[in-house]
Amino acid sequence: MKIRNSTDLLWDQLREIHSFETLVENTLPGLADQAGNRTLAALLRNDRKYCTEQRQTVENICERHGWDPRGDECKAMKGLIDGGNSHLSEVESDEVRDLMLVAHCGRIKHYEIAAYRFSSDLALSSGFTEDGDALAGIADEEELVLANLESVGAGLLGASTVEGGRW
Ligand SMILES: [Fe+2]
Repeated sequence: MKIRNSTDLLWDQLREIHSFETLVENTLPGLADQAGNRTLAALLRNDRKYCTEQRQTVENICERHGWDPRGDECKAMKGLIDGGNSHLSEVESDEVRDLMLVAHCGRIKHYEIAAYRFSSDLALSSGFTEDGDALAGIADEEELVLANLESVGAGLLGASTVEGGRW
């Protein structure tokens, strides 16, 4: 699509978000299955539900404007997911795998938060208050998931008995 102004840019950003939410939605069940720590597994399963709702919110925003949210493939998120999966496949210890899942999912969350914060600011500055507020609400949800991930990670690091000592 041609991006000529800030409204086109918002649509472009929402298409990218729609694409990466779909990618994350499809990836999370496999990641949750790999988690040995129950809290981490529950957190990842729960995050998938958030993903579905968030994708639907983005679809609703686009629908209100008559924009099609489909048609983009978020290459950055695809690379992030593929990269993390390839590192995960090399892990041979359950404890280390959980730590790597925290690292992998933390990167994904940071990417999502950046996209939602920018899109929210863009929507608000374009006068789309309802959309900007909805996108800011999603960014808040993503930040909560990130904080929970970091807290699980801190617990895992504190309890780590992985060979080689503390991390
Ligand atoms: Fe999300």
